[in-house]
Amino acid sequence: MPAHPRPHRPDDSVRRRGRLRPAMAAEGGGIHKPLPPDLFHIHGTNAETVPAALRRTGYHTPNDRFFVRNHTTTPRLDAADWRLTVWGDGLRGAPVEFGYAQLRALPAVTRATCLECAGNGRSYFTSQQGDDVTGTPWTLGAVGAARWRGARLADVLRLAGIRSDAVDVMPRGLDDPYVDDGVDYGRVRRPMPVAKALDDVILAYEMNGEPLPYDHGYPVRIVAPSWVGVASIKWVGDIEVSAAPLSSPWTTEFYRLFGPDHPPGGAPMTVLPVRSTWEIDAGTALPAGVTHRLTGRSWSGGGGVARVDVSTDGGAHWHAARLRDEPSEDGWVRWETDWRPYEPGPAELLARATDTAGRTQPDRAVPNTQGYFFDAVVRCPVTVV
Ligand code: MTE
Repeated sequence: MPAHPRPHRPDDSVRRRGRLRPAMAAEGGGIHKPLPPDLFHIHGTNAETVPAALRRTGYHTPNDRFFVRNHTTTPRLDAADWRLTVWGDGLRGAPVEFGYAQLRALPAVTRATCLECAGNGRSYFTSQQGDDVTGTPWTLGAVGAARWRGARLADVLRLAGIRSDAVDVMPRGLDDPYVDDGVDYGRVRRPMPVAKALDDVILAYEMNGEPLPYDHGYPVRIVAPSWVGVASIKWVGDIEVSAAPLSSPWTTEFYRLFGPDHPPGGAPMTVLPVRSTWEIDAGTALPAGVTHRLTGRSWSGGGGVARVDVSTDGGAHWHAARLRDEPSEDGWVRWETDWRPYEPGPAELLARATDTAGRTQPDRAVPNTQGYFFDAVVRCPVTVV
């Protein structure tokens, strides 16, 4: 007899307010919010924030310009019908359901944290390193910082009766199952260890002071600070709590590091690396003989960003950028530097961040077949005119 009999797997159906067009109907067609070209670059079912769109924003990325990463299409769920079912052999008893009002009645926490797709920067594996990788060719716009408000996952798990020998929890989304190349992988789900779940993970229902927008997980999503964005399951409908380790295609096949530089079975992915972006679009023309205030942002999953060095001449000379924010554990820092170019012609802007744990962006990112964790210094081309 197994110590914990297999529990009832809950029905994850929920009433929807009507279906959107299929994602493949048009680029970005499965995303609910407007995607004007001055704010977003669209990649299939996903949309990234254009670098210059961050320039005039404050610390937090406004909801209308926050990147969207959807495996399928944004479902429009009704909070009144929404239920979160917590279930599994890692609980002391039967599955426990929470409604939206019940979740909102729990003690609320607010946390300003970056959310970033592990594949952010993927296109530079090809354009800077000549590596052959698969996946959405993001530049550096698959990241944003928001104030997330919600209940602690720890509180919900304790109310549901989590056992002391539970090891993993697996939140699952209510969006359509992900089908690729004829293979149905089921609904988006990804396990995390109980230690992470009880530490800093939020069941968020607000983003920057507003109810979560449809595209960002309405009515409730997971926010797992410092971890790869896929850990932050949107439209969460159920959470399995298990006394044995769990896996899903999102840990065994996707969001795993494969290739000659990684172990034969691949390496798991959790904490995000150090990265930086300039808030200027590649190819921008900058007049010579004028002082330009150039700005950017850096962030790291492994601690706050302590230092950012910049170069405006392709890496020949470097100096420290002025940091505009204190290092924050799971947020980003804004920085700036003044540049007065004299010679017309092409130039390259480079930024290299170092976090409080001493991790510095390398010149070359370690390649992997699916192009995750591009953390090398990115060369941003501009033209002095
Ligand atoms: N959750 C569900 N249910 N479905 C998804 O497609 N995408 C994940 C994660 N959670 C996803 C999901 C990925 S890969 C990322 S990077 C983040 O959501 C993106 O969150 P955002 O679209 O709010 O920016």
